[in-house]
Amino acid sequence: MIKACLFDMDGVIVDTAKFHFKAWQRLADSLSIPFTEEQNEELKGVSRVESLEKILAWGQIQLNNAKKIELMDLKNKWYLDYSAEVNAADMLDGVPEFLQELRENNIRIGLGSSSKNALMILEKLGILHFFDTIIDGNKIHMSKPHPEVFLRGATELKLEPSEIVVFEDALSGVEAAKAGGFHCIGIGDAQVLAAADAVVPSMEGMSIERMVSLVSND
Ligand code: BG6
Ligand code: MG
Repeated sequence: MIKACLFDMDGVIVDTAKFHFKAWQRLADSLSIPFTEEQNEELKGVSRVESLEKILAWGQIQLNNAKKIELMDLKNKWYLDYSAEVNAADMLDGVPEFLQELRENNIRIGLGSSSKNALMILEKLGILHFFDTIIDGNKIHMSKPHPEVFLRGATELKLEPSEIVVFEDALSGVEAAKAGGFHCIGIGDAQVLAAADAVVPSMEGMSIERMVSLVSND
């Protein structure tokens, strides 16, 4: 019996994943580190500090902590610039209707995001009121693929992972959900997200009936 859904935010609820990519790319360029879209897949779902560490490792660059903080602040400033105009129209297709259907059917809704900007983005989208719990990058110690973010969501909802479906666009997020014992629907490329119980190309047309049928065999 599915009693709740936990949503990743960037790339599932709203198309902000492209702004993270753009900002990291700008930072990598400024350090003359080559950075591809394939490498960016490895950053999805990963915290700001771990993303920077990965980029620096790819470029074989070693920096002191003060410089790393400076670079993270710069990346976040660019990300905030790019996402300044985000509004309800930027929600991914199918998301508002699905949130509404979940609400009307008393299926609880939570956020499980690595982003420290999650609250601000949800506010801009005008959908904060849908969420029974919000676990974001400010509340967790371990980045996905560690399951902490989703396990904390389950604890706050007072539910078992087996009663919850996680929606994720990142491999690290799918791995986190499965490591925590959750059902997981991947949003995006079926090859990249093969570890999910089922993968759909987007949230378009998502419904409770579809969700239940997608996770019913795992
Ligand atoms: C995740 C994104 O949701 O949040 C990552 O997929 C991002 O790309 C991470 O790095 C941390 O985000 P923020 O907003 O705290 O820098
Ligand atoms: Mg994501």
